[in-house]
Amino acid sequence: MKILVVYYSRTNVTKKIAEEIANELNCDIEEIKPKVNYDGKLGYIRGGKDAMSAKIIELEECKFNPADYEIVYLGVPVWAGKSANPMISYIKENENSFNEVKFFVTAGSAGFDGAFKQLEKFVGKAPLKTLALTTKEVKRDKYREKLDIFLE
Ligand SMILES: Cc1cc2nc3c(=O)[nH]c(=O)nc-3n(C[C@H](O)[C@H](O)[C@H](O)COP(=O)(O)O)c2cc1C
Repeated sequence: MKILVVYYSRTNVTKKIAEEIANELNCDIEEIKPKVNYDGKLGYIRGGKDAMSAKIIELEECKFNPADYEIVYLGVPVWAGKSANPMISYIKENENSFNEVKFFVTAGSAGFDGAFKQLEKFVGKAPLKTLALTTKEVKRDKYREKLDIFLE
C-alpha cells in the first residue's frame, strides 16, 4: 500500500512522531515548510493569529503529490485551539487530492478536537483514525501504545 506522511512542526514535537510513523511504515515523508517565519516570540504571536483566521500562506514547493497515495497521514500541532495554518494551507493547495486520511495532532494540553474538526472540514472527509498526543507524552516517549493502535 502506498502511504505518505505529511507534517508541519515548529519545534520538532510533531516531527518526532511523523518520523517514527514513516520509519515504521517505511514510507515517503514530506515536511511542510512555510514561507512565513513563525520562529521566536513574534512568530508565536503571528502563528496564533494566523491559525485563528485559518490564514492561507505560501509554502515551499513539495516533493510528493498526495493523490498518488492510498493513505496520507497528516500531522500538525494545535495552534490557538485549531490546526496550525501551514497544514490548512497545504490541504487547500492540494484540494480534492486525498484518498484516505489519518490525522495526528500534538498540543501542550488542549484543542485537539478543534484541530481534528478543522482538518476534517478542509480535507472534506472523515479520517480513518486520529491520534492526539500532548507535548509531554511525545518528549517523554509515552506514546507507544497509542501509536501502535493508530498505525493498525
Ligand atoms: C502559536 C501557537 C499556539 C498554540 N496554541 C496551543 C493551544 O491552543 N493549546 C495547546 O494545548 N497548545 C498550544 N500550543 C502548543 C503546541 O501545540 C505544542 O507545543 C505542540 O506540541 C508543538 O508541536 P511542534 O513542535 O510540532 O510545533 C501552541 C503553540 C503555538 C506556537
